[in-house]
Amino acid sequence: MEPLKAISFLLFALSLTDAAKWTYERGAATGPANWGNVSAECDERRQSPINFVHEDTISVSWKPFKFKGYNTSTGSIPRINNIGHTAMMDLDGFHSVSEGGLPTEYQALQVHFHWGKTDAVGSEHTIDGKQFPLEMHIVHYAYIRFNGSDIDAVMSGDPDALAVLGVLFEIGEEDNEELAEIIKGLTEITAEGQAYDFQESVSLIDLLPEDKSSFYRYNGSLTTPDCHQIVTWTVFTETVPISQSQMEQFRALTEGSGSEVHSIGDAFRPVQPVYDRDVFYNGAVLTTIPSLVLVMGLIMIHLIP
Ligand SMILES: *[C@@H]1O[C@H](CO)[C@@H](O)[C@H](O)[C@H]1NC(C)=O
Ligand SMILES: *[C@@H]1O[C@H](CO)[C@@H](O)[C@H](O)[C@H]1NC(C)=O
Ligand SMILES: *[C@@H]1O[C@H](CO)[C@@H](O)[C@H](O)[C@H]1NC(C)=O
Ligand SMILES: *[C@@H]1O[C@H](CO)[C@@H](O)[C@H](O)[C@H]1NC(C)=O
Ligand SMILES: [Zn+2]
Repeated sequence: MEPLKAISFLLFALSLTDAAKWTYERGAATGPANWGNVSAECDERRQSPINFVHEDTISVSWKPFKFKGYNTSTGSIPRINNIGHTAMMDLDGFHSVSEGGLPTEYQALQVHFHWGKTDAVGSEHTIDGKQFPLEMHIVHYAYIRFNGSDIDAVMSGDPDALAVLGVLFEIGEEDNEELAEIIKGLTEITAEGQAYDFQESVSLIDLLPEDKSSFYRYNGSLTTPDCHQIVTWTVFTETVPISQSQMEQFRALTEGSGSEVHSIGDAFRPVQPVYDRDVFYNGAVLTTIPSLVLVMGLIMIHLIP
């Protein structure tokens, strides 16, 4: 396996290699409340996801994100896989994000989803207590620092090792055409271990909201065991629409084999305590101030003879 694939795989690998070790099933001995038994890190104080309390956030105004390779042609997002616990898209070629207050440039490794059995639940992050039916995670790593070779280094505690972009979805009336190929793929991978090779081009940029300058930022963790606390999180505030029937295709996915096949169900971790962490909000609020000053400056210039 090439190093990049290996890292990508590891981030969700426990679901394949240790399927029995943890589950999303609430109340189960291996359910989210007991993940601390799978990995002690799951009980530490920098865990994800969290609920964003808007009025407790710190307002910032960072440079806009810089995306490379996000608007790609056919082939660079080759397939979608049912890996048990979630559907994951592989990425080929180079896709990266930098700026937007991120400490370095991060290369995308994989994309996966979290959803629930009903529209009332599903997202991992919540905003002022509101949960969304679907959340997408684009997982990136600090490739310049690790140079594709040292998986152990990525996983072993550098708090800036990964950057995840989180996108929240809301139910809309119409099918979201940008999701059409992904949804088609889902219908072909209802059983764990199945994969679907995309026939049409899928681009990361089309999966992000229009407004990429309004987001929450905090230091957190992977949201599955071993819950490594190595993630700089970005969660966009503008949602992306998905229709009811498109949502149903996520809910049709199953995991397990033989007599153990069951619906993936509520594929999200409940929110974790924030403790003493800073949570930032990058948004339009601050950026309007300089333009207001500019406008007032121009008015003044005109008033002064
Ligand atoms: C770990 O497992 C033990 C025994 O199964 C259980 O009593 C305990 O509550 C669990 N603790 C955590 C943190 O999951
Ligand atoms: C992506 O590239 C295509 C073809 O070059 C272009 O038509 C489209 O507008 C681009 N999309 C974005 C969001 O930049
Ligand atoms: C990664 O390492 C290889 C040699 O092992 C080197 O050629 C390459 O320039 C390095 N890439 C970066 C981004 O540092
Ligand atoms: C994350 O933690 C690092 C190291 O402690 C710190 O420098 C950085 O400012 C933190 N970032 C956020 C978004 O809190
Ligand atoms: Zn995730």
